[in-house]
Amino acid sequence: MKRIFSGVKPTGHLTLGNYLGAVRRWVEVDQHRADALFSVADLHALTVEHDPARVRRLSRQAATLLLAAGLDAERCTLFVQSHVDEHTRLSYLLECTATDGEMRRMIQYREKAARERARGGSVRLSLLTYPVLMAADILAYGTDEVPVGDDQAQHVELTRDVAVRFNRRYGHTFTVPRATLPAVAARVMDLQDPSSKMGKSHGSGAGAVCLLDEPDVVRRKVMRAVTDGAPDVVYDREARPGLANLLELLAACQGADGSGEGAAGPEALAAAYRSYGDLKRDVAEAVVELLRPLRARHAELAADPGYVDGVLRRGAERARERARPVVDRAYRAVGLLPAV
Ligand code: AMP
Ligand code: TRP
Repeated sequence: MKRIFSGVKPTGHLTLGNYLGAVRRWVEVDQHRADALFSVADLHALTVEHDPARVRRLSRQAATLLLAAGLDAERCTLFVQSHVDEHTRLSYLLECTATDGEMRRMIQYREKAARERARGGSVRLSLLTYPVLMAADILAYGTDEVPVGDDQAQHVELTRDVAVRFNRRYGHTFTVPRATLPAVAARVMDLQDPSSKMGKSHGSGAGAVCLLDEPDVVRRKVMRAVTDGAPDVVYDREARPGLANLLELLAACQGADGSGEGAAGPEALAAAYRSYGDLKRDVAEAVVELLRPLRARHAELAADPGYVDGVLRRGAERARERARPVVDRAYRAVGLLPAV
């Protein structure tokens, strides 16, 4: 059976970008067609300055939201990364496989490190080695497919390179995975700054729709989205990025990522609108409706933390069972003496 692995890091409240870029496919497609594992990647949240209590709170919230979005604990494995030691065990071996040049080339590292230095801060070593830990997350499970948004594609490419190199040096150990991206909304942009992606942790917050935002907050954020000077409605990602983002959001909400039969793509939608005002209103309502059931289910689940804890406990057990033999094999392959 095909193996799927993906994750989300608890660095902030989950956004519409997370949902459309990744989580929706986990729910609607991936958990039904494969042995799928989804992780709250809490170790990854420690690569930048963090508040321990906040990481704890956001980890639980992320797990609750993933269940609220429709991950089914009977169909897939949902767990917290730090509950399964195999990730860090394998990460070290992959640090002995990847090169420092590869790490320094990663776009996300370059951007985040530059931002941190500009603020006069220091860059944690783990920010540099983060893609190796992510590679360990993926390779520990013999993963075939990694459903992610566009910003993670480079990290999955690196994972492939590291897997191929390890296999060539030490004999076949890892499945070489590939990234799968959504057809629309692989990179949802910030509503206030359409040149950067909608993210959990940077920006003013006005440009990012959080999955738990109240309907009126969602409406306000969408209605205030930055669009581009010209009055006509056309789909042009290069010249009209703000408008293109809204059209993609609408297309994605209506199911043009493949989940809705025959839903219109962003180009076809552009032809149907005469003004920004109408388009924004429709985007706002589509997003509000998309999130409505998720918010309701989240409220129910948040009232029952014991249930969520139970799901995570069983998830970690299942994850461990799958990862341990792969990581043990890798330890033997590189020449480490087995403990007897
Ligand atoms: P992160 O928030 O970085 O932990 O991302 C979790 C998942 O959501 C990854 O697969 C990302 O690629 C995806 N993702 C995050 N932000 C966006 C965005 N703005 N558009 C599309 N996908 C995104
Ligand atoms: N690094 C990913 C992100 O920031 C989250 C993540 C951690 C992940 N481990 C993973 C995604 C393994 C896919 C596979 O979005």
